[in-house]
Formats: sequence, structure tokens, C-alpha cells
Amino acid sequence: YRGWSTLHLCQYQGFWFQPKIGLEGVMWVQQRFKPRPTDVYLATNPKSGTTWLKAIVFSIMNRKRYNNFTTDHPLLKLSPHEVVPFMELDLFRTTPIADPEILPSPRILATHIAYNMLPESIQNSSCPIVYICRNPKDVFVSFWQFSVKMRPKDLPELSFEEAFDLFCHGVTPCGPFWDQALGYWKASVEFPNRVLFLKYEDMKTEPLLCTKRIAELLGQPFSLQEEENGIVQEIVKLCSFENMSNLEVNRNGKSRVRAEVKNDVFFRQGKVGDWKNHLTDEMIERLDQITKHKFDGTGLIVDTWI
Ligand code: A3P
Repeated sequence: YRGWSTLHLCQYQGFWFQPKIGLEGVMWVQQRFKPRPTDVYLATNPKSGTTWLKAIVFSIMNRKRYNNFTTDHPLLKLSPHEVVPFMELDLFRTTPIADPEILPSPRILATHIAYNMLPESIQNSSCPIVYICRNPKDVFVSFWQFSVKMRPKDLPELSFEEAFDLFCHGVTPCGPFWDQALGYWKASVEFPNRVLFLKYEDMKTEPLLCTKRIAELLGQPFSLQEEENGIVQEIVKLCSFENMSNLEVNRNGKSRVRAEVKNDVFFRQGKVGDWKNHLTDEMIERLDQITKHKFDGTGLIVDTWI
């Protein structure tokens, strides 16, 4: 299939990947990745809030070391993608941010790989996994905007309608969206103490609660004293779209790892429901039908998406 942004996509074990920057890394993770018992994994469908989750988890886990959230915190100077690498994109090549031998424990590692494709060493570990799921209509619109920015000039344009059709057929990097979400949903039902399934929309409306739930899953709940000192609020504020998207590093910085990626491509609107400004009635109907059909009977409630 013609790819979304840079390359063509190919199917592997039921999911779609960009051959070079995606698939090679996935195979590296499956065959060579060495988990550590202290690892923490963050899993998402691209465009579902990965950048946000990276910032929140980094802040939670390092809150003793970095407890000044307004003047002296790494996230004021570094993109969340610099402090939390992607396993399949950053680890398999030794990069300035992610030499696997150098990253200190406990490592926070992000991935877009489907749950069932993760190596057994991860699936059978007791390491926590936090997954964020987002309304596929917003995911598609966010993806579209991202791919327009990332597309090299020499590639033929993909129309909005073509991209939508591909999305509906599940052809997106690391998609199908629904299959990827369901894998983590089922894991969260089976292993509730290890896999936390969150929705982007709930994180927007209840950021404090979601941040506390993440901290609990990680085995690092906020103490009463921390709560009284407003640490949870500080973390939520630091990681908010309003704050992060206005930081110089996220407005004008560039990735040290992938030279072509500018940090600002990960910050657009950070809102729920932008799909209403982009999708036609037919598109809405089609996507909703697919979502209902795919999630029917799984226990995954997505009323607020439809
Ligand atoms: P929009 O394009 O809808 O604005 P990812 O990080 O997985 O690539 O997802 C990117 C999406 O998350 C973009 O959505 C982006 O604006 C949004 N986002 C980035 N940082 C965020 C934050 N701190 N809070 C909420 N949303 C955020």
C-alpha cells in the first residue's frame, strides 16, 4: 500500500508497518530486545496521546529527583520524545537518547507495537504497561494532519478521502487501529494490575484522577503529603497541552534522533472532537459502524465516541 507519510506500508503478523523505520525495529524488538524487570512500557496507537503520556510518566517516575516543575525540570528543555524513547524506533540503533545499555533503570519505553506482537519476555513479565486509546475519528484527523506535514515533497499526494479509506481498511502505521486497541483492552481485562487502559478523552476531563491511576499502576502512588503539596496538580500542569506546546523546545526544537522530525509536529490542537470540523456525515457513519462492529461484545465501552 502507498504509505501515509514517507514510505509504503507492508503487512506483518496482521499489522501494517513502514518497512524501514517501522518493521525493522519491530523485528529487532521481537528477536533481540532484552527487557529488564524494572521496565515500564507505554503503548499507544500513533496520534493517540503518546507524547503526553511520555511526559506524564516521566514526571511521575522522576518526581523525587525533579521536583521543581516550573523552573528546573528536564521537560522544560527536552521534548518528551527525548526523555522516553520508542523501543522499535530508537532502541535498535544506538542513538544519542537511547543506547539500551546506557539507559538507567528503571527505563520508560514507548511502543506502537500490538500487544500480541510484543515478545513473550514482555508479555510474561510483571512490568506495567500503560495504554492510551483515543476516538478513532480524532486519531484519523490527527494522523492526516501529521502526514501532510511529514510527507516529503517528492511523494505524490494522498487525498483526504484516500487516506480515510485506508484508515477504514486498517492500513495505517501500526494499524488496524481497532485490532491494536483490542489487544491492549483484552490484556487490561486479563491482567488489571499490570495493564492500564486509559482513554485520551478521560485524561482530558479527569487529568488528576488519570495521573493518580497511572502512578498507582507503576507502584508509585502519591503520598498524602505529596497530594497536600499539590504535586499531582504540578505534574498535570507541566504536561498539559497548553504548557507543553508553548515551550520553546516544543515550538522550535528538532529531534536529535530523527533529523527530519521537528518537535512541533507532535503538538497541534490537543482537543477532543476536532473530527467534527473535518469528516463528512458519510465518513462519520462509516467509521462509527466499524468501531461498533469491532468492539461489540468486547466490554470496551466507547459511547462517548459515537
Ligand atoms: P491533535 O492532532 O488532535 O492535536 P501522539 O503524541 O501520539 O503523536 O499524538 C499527537 C496528538 O496528541 C495530537 O493531537 C497532539 O496535539 C496531542 N497532544 C500532544 N501533547 C498533548 C498534551 N500534552 N495534552 C493533550 N494532547 C496532546
